[in-house]
Amino acid sequence: MKRISIFLAILISLSSLVLRADEGMWIPMLLDRFNIDIMHREGCKLSAEDIYSINQASIKDAVMIFGGGCTAELISGEGLLITNHHCGYRSIQRHSSLGHDYLTDGFWAMSGEEELPNPGLKVTFLKRMEDVTEVVLSHLTPGISEEKRQEIVRQVSDSLAAATIKGTRYTAVVKPFYQGNQYFLFVQEVFEDVRLVGAPPSSIGKFGGDTDNWMWPRHTGDFSLFRIYAGENNIPAPYNPANKPYHPAKFLPVSLKGIHPGDFTIVMGYPGSTSEYVPSYHLKMLVEDLYPKLIAVRDKKLEILNAAAANDPAIRIKYAAKNASISNSWKRWKGEINGLNKLDAIGKKQKYEENILIWLYNHPEMQDKYGTLLARYKKLYPQYGQYLLARNMVIEVFFRYGAEVVGFARQFRTLENMASGAENASQTGKVIIRLKQALRRFYRDYSPAVDEQLFKVLLKTYEDNLDPAFYPPLLTMIRSKYHGNYGSYIHKIYRKTMFADSVKVIAFLNGFKGEQSIKKMKKDPVYQWVMSVDDIYSGKIVPEFEKMSKEKARLDRLYMQLQMTYDTSKVFYPDANFTMRVTYGKVKGYEPRDAVWYKYYTTLKGVIEKDNPQIYDYNVPEKLKVLYENKDYGRYAENGELHVCFIATNHTTGGNSGSPVLDAEGNLVGINFDRAWEGVMSDLMFNPGQCRNISLDIRYALFLIDKYAGAGYLLDEMNIVE
Ligand code: ARG
Ligand code: GLU
Repeated sequence: MKRISIFLAILISLSSLVLRADEGMWIPMLLDRFNIDIMHREGCKLSAEDIYSINQASIKDAVMIFGGGCTAELISGEGLLITNHHCGYRSIQRHSSLGHDYLTDGFWAMSGEEELPNPGLKVTFLKRMEDVTEVVLSHLTPGISEEKRQEIVRQVSDSLAAATIKGTRYTAVVKPFYQGNQYFLFVQEVFEDVRLVGAPPSSIGKFGGDTDNWMWPRHTGDFSLFRIYAGENNIPAPYNPANKPYHPAKFLPVSLKGIHPGDFTIVMGYPGSTSEYVPSYHLKMLVEDLYPKLIAVRDKKLEILNAAAANDPAIRIKYAAKNASISNSWKRWKGEINGLNKLDAIGKKQKYEENILIWLYNHPEMQDKYGTLLARYKKLYPQYGQYLLARNMVIEVFFRYGAEVVGFARQFRTLENMASGAENASQTGKVIIRLKQALRRFYRDYSPAVDEQLFKVLLKTYEDNLDPAFYPPLLTMIRSKYHGNYGSYIHKIYRKTMFADSVKVIAFLNGFKGEQSIKKMKKDPVYQWVMSVDDIYSGKIVPEFEKMSKEKARLDRLYMQLQMTYDTSKVFYPDANFTMRVTYGKVKGYEPRDAVWYKYYTTLKGVIEKDNPQIYDYNVPEKLKVLYENKDYGRYAENGELHVCFIATNHTTGGNSGSPVLDAEGNLVGINFDRAWEGVMSDLMFNPGQCRNISLDIRYALFLIDKYAGAGYLLDEMNIVE
């Protein structure tokens, strides 16, 4: 560690204070200061250096970001990695068609030659991290505007990152911690030749589908295997058939010993985002307004998509990943509302805020800086909430998996902007090439018929859930004419527009003639919606929202300081920000509701109990049933049972999917993939009695690779601890 900020010094002086064993997402570099003692007390046998070190190979060298939002870990010296099935889902989907449907049937490479490349898929290793708070803060002068502050932080961060990686093959990024009170620099190494090695069928890897998602007891075999390839000298290189499997500094031993109640576990990975330190107003906004309205929109989307998928297997494949993504947050929001209410989270925060106000009253020296903070929050949140809702509603309805044609056509605004500026033929050419690439991606997973239904229904939902001040002008215009019944109007749009048909769009791009083509495009009814939505979105919602977000960022930074000054008996962990974190906890069941106790593990028997050939997500493959009937579990069983999933008290969130779950010695015992329904509010408030992370028992993965898939050769390259 190089520099220690004053802020950190305060933290360190607190480190002797009581620390909780379960809650918290800790900074790997600071384990030796804050956590390792309690970890040892809880049963951990590893040293802080075993977990994170820059002097020797450590566990952090075996853990990486997978793609853009998951975690994965190395399990062999030949670059073999394991992550979740749902993290590899898009890659598996891309290699799938009705001819070879790997989503339905699974995929197993029986040799290196059969492994499938995945253009665009990357894994990112952390080489080291460094506290750069002092450097960043030294560039800031008191009293500057939030806008100026953000600009300076960005510049300093960029130049720090650039200076750090100069002359190396690494990338670097500076990230804010504790709402911008602290900054860390991360040096990373990115590999871009990552090939698909194996995935179970969805009936195992996504068993229980969106019905069981976020739920315990769970029986999902949520894993997939990939391999990292490197170029000459084991160094990252773009995809090339001649690349060789990557030889890592460290890979994780895999344990067959299993886990038992009370066992110590560590999860290491990339939690995406949490909001543990927000004021009560924030929770009120989520629980009473934002979540219910977003849930309502997605109710509609899912109704349409599920019906379409049930009728047509081709649609099911095209919309599989979109459907999973829509359903995932939709369901979590519902769980969060329940969990927060059950905890009386708003009431708890209000009480806490009252106590802070009393404390401030007794500490007049703090008045200047923090005296009006909570009052300013109170004033900001109603407006902020309105704009946040409007912004999210536009995204939900028009940009992301809503009326998708609008979001797609919006990409053509670049053409418009270019043609109206100083026109440059070669630049326009480039834009056209990019649009053609986007077009291929878009239409591959698109059905105009489904989209039309979505547009019809979502337009009404938009109207119902937002203040007319946020209507695009076109909506205001058609409202009185159609009285919320937009069927025939939308149908006409899809008949007339070129954007619902790839052939027409390609023809348009091939014959693109600057201004003249733009004029024509502007007459397209979908493009008119693009312009109209942008009118309100880019013209009003976003600018206002950004202004308020800046004010909120300033308040958040102060409020974080205030909480740390007020509550000196607590060691604060920073909110998740998609940087590597360590969480630790114990294997433990829980009581979801009165009189019900959930055991800490599930078994293959439960998979068979849920079997239902009528339902895609519960259709247990024949071969798995045979293995079950014969109890053909090999060395993967425990007391005659095959364990499938288990739960523990580790504090995790989205992004932790695919994270290794390690035992006290650092052996891989599970793959984290979810949280239990009753505890998903842990992103906002942790409840040790209810919050559980759900992991795949690694023995189930090995059993499937070996006995189910017949790809046992893959186990030969692992270090298996019996
Ligand atoms: N809930 C898990 C997570 O947040 C799994 C999501 C994927 N599975 C699904 N059925 N949609 O990512
Ligand atoms: N499934 C989540 C992910 O993809 C992890 C579950 C959670 O939110 O904890 O990261």
